[in-house]
Amino acid sequence: MAQSRIDCWVPGREKQLSRLATGIPFAQAMLGINTQTSINHIEMTEFPIADPWSQLMQQATRRLAEAGGCDYKTLLGLGIGDGRNERIAANIVNSRGAHLEGIIGVDIDSRKLALALKNLHNDNFDGLLKKGSIRLYEGDATTFLNSWNNHQDKPFSGVAFMCLPQTKGMGTSSDVVNADESHKPFEQDWDKYGLSLNAATLSSLRNIASDEATTLLVLSGRLPEKIRKKLINDTGWQINDSINGRVKQDKDTPLDWMLELKDIDDGTLFYDEQGQSLPITEAVNRHNQGLPIYHDVYVYQIQPK
Ligand SMILES: C[S@@+](CC[C@H](N)C(=O)[O-])C[C@H]1O[C@@H](n2cnc3c(N)ncnc32)[C@H](O)[C@@H]1O
Repeated sequence: MAQSRIDCWVPGREKQLSRLATGIPFAQAMLGINTQTSINHIEMTEFPIADPWSQLMQQATRRLAEAGGCDYKTLLGLGIGDGRNERIAANIVNSRGAHLEGIIGVDIDSRKLALALKNLHNDNFDGLLKKGSIRLYEGDATTFLNSWNNHQDKPFSGVAFMCLPQTKGMGTSSDVVNADESHKPFEQDWDKYGLSLNAATLSSLRNIASDEATTLLVLSGRLPEKIRKKLINDTGWQINDSINGRVKQDKDTPLDWMLELKDIDDGTLFYDEQGQSLPITEAVNRHNQGLPIYHDVYVYQIQPK
């Protein structure tokens, strides 16, 4: 069996994290957890596994992996978080008797990388990954993709997982939005929708993707279908498949910025508890008064055009 190697680019911590023997204890120390902990998956508290957005992403991940869509591929977590999607896919690949080429994870928050590492380790990835390679990078997803050629010698042909923040700057703590330089070219068209980071990342991913690449992309139905489709199309992708579900709006996410988008309201963006659609103004009013509102979430399976 190949010996797993961790290439962990957390500035200043590469040495400690680069070998399994030292990396796992170091990650545990970063997380402040006991080496004897028996918890199978430690979840990021800001985005619980039971969160309906996450549930939908997990469902899409299972569907793709069970159809063989992840077999022999590299999994790329853009904003990998605690690694739950990659872990689900990796276990399904394993149960199919196939293997993965590797797992690459990027996150702006090094604590999430430590979580992902610890969680992947629980699955004994040494045996799972034939080529024995897990690579974790601390940084902005777009910046990482723009430097792909410094790290990799071939285009990306695997499966990318993208569930990145999509509010205007003031999201919850899971939404560490970094106004990175690499997002700048996308701000003029996409900032008003809270989608600069997603547009920049999709575009940079397309630049390094081969025709075989697949991406699972989570997008909020708080923006109309024509905007979601424009984002996918303008960044060089096409939709192969999608699933969707209705979720309760998270109380802590500010929505006032959406009042400026009244003109794009197509009447399908928000709903009340009875499923009646609400205009944006009414939905934001209710939200600000602490009343429940609902919207749809989509997971798109996309491929290069
Ligand atoms: C909503 S969580 C989703 C985590 C994971 N993908 C999942 O589906 O469970 C968003 C993740 O994106 C990360 N993030 C936020 N801004 C980022 C950026 N500019 N580049 C890379 N990761 C980012 C956060 O730290 C967080 O882990």
